[in-house]
Amino acid sequence: MEQNQLERETRIVAVGNQKGGVAKTTNTVHLATALGEMGRRCLIWDLDMNHGATLHFGIPSEGFLGTFEVLIGEEQPEDVIITNDDEDVELPENIHIIAARRNLEKIDQALVAKNKFLITQDVLLKPLQSLRGRYDYIFLDTAPNATTPTIAAYKAAELFILSAMPDPFAIAGLNDALADIQDAQRHGNPHIRLLGVILSGVDKRTRLAGLDHGVGHPLMLLGDTKIPNCRKNKVFKDLGHYSEWPKMKPPRSKLRGIKRKISS
Ligand SMILES: Nc1ncnc2c1ncn2[C@@H]1O[C@H](COP(=O)(O)OP(=O)(O)OP(=O)(O)O)[C@@H](O)[C@H]1O
Ligand SMILES: [Mg+2]
Repeated sequence: MEQNQLERETRIVAVGNQKGGVAKTTNTVHLATALGEMGRRCLIWDLDMNHGATLHFGIPSEGFLGTFEVLIGEEQPEDVIITNDDEDVELPENIHIIAARRNLEKIDQALVAKNKFLITQDVLLKPLQSLRGRYDYIFLDTAPNATTPTIAAYKAAELFILSAMPDPFAIAGLNDALADIQDAQRHGNPHIRLLGVILSGVDKRTRLAGLDHGVGHPLMLLGDTKIPNCRKNKVFKDLGHYSEWPKMKPPRSKLRGIKRKISS
């Protein structure tokens, strides 16, 4: 390990929502890439059996050992990290990835087979600890349901970004996701902090554009066309200076307000 890698203060950021298809992976990838362009070293850890982040970078999903093998303790995370030094891999500057494959759907049986007394929600703690100091940010791209790797991400993350798309169901999902964060805070991870909500696929001509005054979290609206240049965006920039972000408790009443606005 290079000397300067040892000096990094690693922030562990989960991106999530129990709802599927709400841009969790897209936001993870773009946010990490933007930070990578700004010189921050980022690891994206794909925790979804559908391996969206792995696919995003064109990594052949069966080609690499990854999340499954680390979680069952057969591989050290350092040994499965994919970088540009790997054959046929093209990653953005300063981005590394731990890939997922379909075998993650069998993670629970595999964990029980290894050790009946294992606390499965803690499976990420040790591997993440061993990666501390190597990266500025480790992004945990979670699945749209409460699989073991996703629950483990809630348990291990320091910062959480909620991804949503503006339809009434997505906002209901957002409420569930906020409740999940509160549960994680109460049951084992008091340090997890909601960093903000990224609302993607927003048509700015509609009333949704006014949501940024009502959500109660740092809120970023992404238009329905293509992802804007992340470096120029205040929310993304602020992540580079995370300590300046206000401390937030999920204000559920505000979200009820959003739901009303969206459905009206
Ligand atoms: N800002 C945006 N505007 C329009 N479409 C978007 C935007 N962000 C993401 N999408 C599209 O939405 C779809 C879902 O995105 P993505 O795969 O990132 O969601 P996800 O929450 O990770 O899904 P899953 O729950 O399946 O993991 C993709 O087709 C993606 O291209
Ligand atoms: Mg995804």
